[in-house]
Amino acid sequence: MSMKRIGILTAGGDTPALNATIDGAVKRANQLEVEVIGIIKGFSGLLDPRAPHLLLNPLYQTIPELDPYMGGTIIGSSRHYIDPAKKEEFKGVTEKLSRMGIEGLICIGGDGTINGMQPISEFFPCVLAPKTIDNDLGLNYPEEPYEWTRTQNDDGKFKYDKDGERKHIERDEIVNYATPGYATAVFVAVQAIQRVRTTAESHRRIAIIEVMGRDSGYISLGCAYGQPDMILIPEVAVDLDRLEERVRQLYDLQKNCVIVIGEGIRDQHGNLFGDKASSFDPAGNIIMSGAAEHLKNELATRLGDDFFRSRRRHDSANEAIFTRKVGHTQRGGRPIRFDRFYAASLGGHAVDLLLKQENNSISILKYCDERGFEVSSTDANRLRDRWGIIHARTVHLSKYDQERMHLSIFGRDYLKPIFDHAVGPEDVDYLHNEIFLPGNLSSRYQSINVDVHKRIRYL
Ligand code: F6P
Repeated sequence: MSMKRIGILTAGGDTPALNATIDGAVKRANQLEVEVIGIIKGFSGLLDPRAPHLLLNPLYQTIPELDPYMGGTIIGSSRHYIDPAKKEEFKGVTEKLSRMGIEGLICIGGDGTINGMQPISEFFPCVLAPKTIDNDLGLNYPEEPYEWTRTQNDDGKFKYDKDGERKHIERDEIVNYATPGYATAVFVAVQAIQRVRTTAESHRRIAIIEVMGRDSGYISLGCAYGQPDMILIPEVAVDLDRLEERVRQLYDLQKNCVIVIGEGIRDQHGNLFGDKASSFDPAGNIIMSGAAEHLKNELATRLGDDFFRSRRRHDSANEAIFTRKVGHTQRGGRPIRFDRFYAASLGGHAVDLLLKQENNSISILKYCDERGFEVSSTDANRLRDRWGIIHARTVHLSKYDQERMHLSIFGRDYLKPIFDHAVGPEDVDYLHNEIFLPGNLSSRYQSINVDVHKRIRYL
C-alpha cells in the first residue's frame, strides 16, 4: 500500500542546499499526491513531547516559504540524536510519528544523521537524503569499510584505524561522488583565498587560511581553485620541516605565501593541531578550533623575526604571518547551481526510495565518464564497517600530492566534473541584480522563521 503522508527532517550542521533538498522532495511528493510533514529542528523535534511540525504541501502545493535558492533550512536543524538505549524516549518517537499520521521518514543529513536514523529504521521506514559541506558521506571505493580495524585503549574506548588503502581508484567507483553543500562551501572559500591573496601580496605577508571539514580535507582540496601555494589536509601529517623549507623558497621568490589548511590537520604523532578546546558538541564531535593559530606560532618560531627583517620587511614574524578562518560563511547563504540541482534531484529520489519501501537506504550521486552524474541509491549498511560504524570519508591519497603539498593530477580529475559548470548564469544574475538592492537599506531583514512559525502545529 502506497504512503499518503511522509515526514522530513534536517539534522546536523546546516548547509546552503538544505531547502533545495526539501523542495526537491516536496515537488516529487506533489506529483505523487503525498503529503509532506516537516519536523521542526531535526531529531530534537521528535524528542519534544509536542513534536512541532508543519505541512509543507497543503493540497499538494509547495508552501511559498520553501525557496530552494535560500540557504539553511526552513524547518530548522539540530545536532541532537535519538539514543536507542533510552527505550521510553525511543518508543515515544515512533508513537509521535504515528500520531502525526506519518508513514515514512526522510532524514536529510550526514554520517551522524544515518546513525541517528538507524535505530528508527528498525521499526519505521526511513531513508536518507545526503547533505554536508564536508563531503565526507560516502566511500572512495566499495570495499573501503572492510579495511577498518579496531583496538581497545586502556580506558576501554575503541580506536579505529585504516589498515592499508587501495592505491588507485576510478571515479565511477566512488560511492556518493559529491554531497550537496560541498560545492557552495568551496565557492565561498575560494573567493576568500583570492581576496586574502591580494593583501598577502601587497603587504608581503604569509597568510594561513583555515577551512572547515573536520577530519576530511575535501574543502581544503577544492580550495585549489583559489591557487593557494600550499594545501594541508587532515589525512596527511604536517611535515613542519618541509613546510618551512617551502615557505622560505616561496617567500624569497614572490614575497608572499598563501597556505590553506583543513581545521582537522594533525602532526606526525596524530595529534590535532587545533585540539585546544577539547570540548564536544551534542553529537559527540570534538569542536575543532585553533589549527591556523597553532601553525602560525610554529612558523613564526621557526622563521623568526630575522627572516623578515633581513629581507627589509619591517614586520616581526608575528605581524608578517596572519591567519583567517573562512568560518560559517562557507556553511551558509545562497547555494550555487550544482548544489541546487543535485540537492533537489537527491531529495526527489529519496521520496521514490521511501515509497518503494527501500528502508534504510541513501539517495546518492554517482559519476561515470560516459554519462556524467546520475542519481542512484545504496543501502546505508554498505557504508558501515564490521562493527556497524560509519566513518567520515577522508580524501583518498591519490587526490593529493604530498611532495608539493597540493592537489594531485587525479585530484584535478576528481574536482572538474563538480566544478566545471557549478556556477550558473542565474548565480551571476543574482550578484548583478540583488546584492546591492536599494530596498535592503530601507527594510529590515525578514526572518523566514516568523512566517514558518505561523504554520507550525503541535501534538
Ligand atoms: O560538519 C560540518 C561542519 O561545518 C564542520 O566542517 C565543522 O567542524 C562543524 O560543522 C562546525 O560546527 P558548528 O556549526 O556546530 O560550530
